[in-house]
Amino acid sequence: MVKGRRVLLGVTGSIAAYKAVEIARGLVKKGALVQTVMTASACRFVTPLTFAAVTGQPVFTNEIDFTENGEMSHISLAAQSDLVIVAPATANIIGKAAGGIADDLLSTLLLVARPPILMAPAMNCRMYEHPAVQKNIETLRTRGIEMEGPCSGDLACGEEGSGRMADPSDIIARAEAMLAQSGDLAGRIIMVTAGPTREPLDPVRFISNRSSGKMGYAIAEAAVRRGARVILVSGPVSLPQPSGLEAYDTVTTAAEMHDAVMGRLGGADALIMAAAVSDYSPDQPAAKKIKKQDDTLAVTLQKNPDILAEVGKRRKRPLLIGFAAETENLEKNAREKCRSKKLDLIVANDVSKPGIGFDSDDNEALLLSASGDATPLPRMSKSRMADAILDKIAILLQSTRS
Ligand SMILES: Cc1cc2nc3c(=O)[nH]c(=O)nc-3n(C[C@H](O)[C@H](O)[C@H](O)COP(=O)(O)O)c2cc1C
Repeated sequence: MVKGRRVLLGVTGSIAAYKAVEIARGLVKKGALVQTVMTASACRFVTPLTFAAVTGQPVFTNEIDFTENGEMSHISLAAQSDLVIVAPATANIIGKAAGGIADDLLSTLLLVARPPILMAPAMNCRMYEHPAVQKNIETLRTRGIEMEGPCSGDLACGEEGSGRMADPSDIIARAEAMLAQSGDLAGRIIMVTAGPTREPLDPVRFISNRSSGKMGYAIAEAAVRRGARVILVSGPVSLPQPSGLEAYDTVTTAAEMHDAVMGRLGGADALIMAAAVSDYSPDQPAAKKIKKQDDTLAVTLQKNPDILAEVGKRRKRPLLIGFAAETENLEKNAREKCRSKKLDLIVANDVSKPGIGFDSDDNEALLLSASGDATPLPRMSKSRMADAILDKIAILLQSTRS
């Protein structure tokens, strides 16, 4: 599964650097988000502009700096990647990685990154056969770094032997295989609901809420990155469809959301209800637009189906995660919701706080589990919070359903 995954492509100073453009292109075509880091030597062989154009992403060229979010580039690039590929990998970068040397962005990043890491060595055959290079490759292998190639054949230097970089298509295939096995949610089926619902009053008016869907979409995206097969059921939002989803259903009303969730729930390992489903809806929506007449207008509301409670009652049910948007008594109300709906985990938000929750890019929450433990999640981006929530879910899935 390559779609939606983040691949960091390190390019070093070999004649084969131009072939890395093909690797970047192939991965982008398969739906990966490719970020390129080039060494100073690599920039003498191919321009950063070529990779920027092919990947649609800015290229990092050796500067250890702060990103827009105030994070250090070598830390954030490594932490955000699902796979690091170094292709071509020079004798120099292989030696630096084996020896723990960190004197530029790529080598520093390789000390921060954790497997999966794939290297595609490329060099003259005598360089490749040198005991120092062989020992360095062996050292990296024992640390879990995988090697693709090199192959034998005509080398750019005119000699013949082992040292040619593996074919880009083989490197891409190896990357695909590594991504398929990686991620703490690999193979899990996770259903996420997101956004508000709209309950019609008449053909042009509805009752809804301020949910933007950003939290649910961030969770769906993060779960895809972590290897899960994700089913996203979304209410009306103005967010682009995340890539790499197993299924994407758009619904309008609470009743439609109920039907979509129930229809697809079979086989799911977890249901994360981040949607703000309307509790009530007008019992008899008018068939025609309601005219302005009397000074007051009474509308009778009826209770909508409670999706979480219904799934919670099932004997065989997925891991259940709910959200509580509260304006008072956050922990008490959230614990009560967790208990009454038989949830495994609840994410409690105090929506009365400014700058977090509804429609904002940040969130702050209290993560409460059925077993009683509470984890405060301080203010952070919704995408970081998505990962924090999924960290907990991954542990719960492992302990209950492995
Ligand atoms: C034309 C040319 C081709 C080179 N090709 C390779 C190569 O294929 N593999 C290699 O290990 N080094 C090769 N080198 C040497 C590296 O560019 C050199 O060791 C450099 O310091 C590597 O820096 P980097 O690993 O930071 O990119 C080549 C040098 C030149 C001038």
